Amino acid sequence: MRIILLGAPGSGKGTQGQRLMEHLHIPQISTGDLLRAAVAAGTELGLKAKATMDAGQLVADDVVIGMIRERLAEPDAAKGFILDGFPRTQPQAVALDQLLAKIDQPLKKVINLDASDEEIVQRLTARGRADDNEATIRRRLQVYGEQTRPLLDYYRKKGLLAVVPGMGTIDDTYARMLKTLD
Ligand code: AP5
Ligand code: MG
Repeated sequence: MRIILLGAPGSGKGTQGQRLMEHLHIPQISTGDLLRAAVAAGTELGLKAKATMDAGQLVADDVVIGMIRERLAEPDAAKGFILDGFPRTQPQAVALDQLLAKIDQPLKKVINLDASDEEIVQRLTARGRADDNEATIRRRLQVYGEQTRPLLDYYRKKGLLAVVPGMGTIDDTYARMLKTLD
């Protein structure tokens, strides 16, 4: 089972991905979490990524593609995975396709969680991560619209896309998401 969770910042990728991970017993792989771990560890990659993340911009494609290539090669990813926050650009999507084709492991589903900008701003300002101030949240939403939303068409054309309303309760969204995986 190989699943991608698409969706704007704050749409619920992390929350829903975690529940799906517990249900399916496959790892949830979040490039945001991997980058924040690198920042916390003070690695060279982390030091470089921090300013970009704090500004709400995307880290360079080659950096995140390299991270994902390494992570997917780990043994726990062999039976499947939930990608959370990757891919986010066309070059990342193409690189993932190539990676999966090489190991003959096709994607099962790409789920786009849909929530309104106003709901997202409310959720994220209440959370308070380093990049959760209103100006940065609005920038992240703008970057999402410009660079990531085009991937909806990319996966729709492949017949893989499911759009799941991400408003309402966490339980409701989770139930809707599970239905798309039947
Ligand atoms: P990343 O960590 O991926 O952050 P994001 O996409 O901005 O999304 P969030 O993690 O904020 O939200 P989410 O959709 O996971 O929602 P969550 O479940 O947490 O990326 C951070 C940065 O890293 C990027 O800006 C970029 O710089 C860099 N980066 C990462 N990946 C990259 C890539 N592939 N390429 C380049 N750069 C990359 O929910 C949010 C909040 O809402 C939580 O508090 C939650 O409790 C609450 N909530 C969730 N669902 C509900 C609900 N139904 N009702 C009420 N509250 C809810
Ligand atoms: Mg997240």
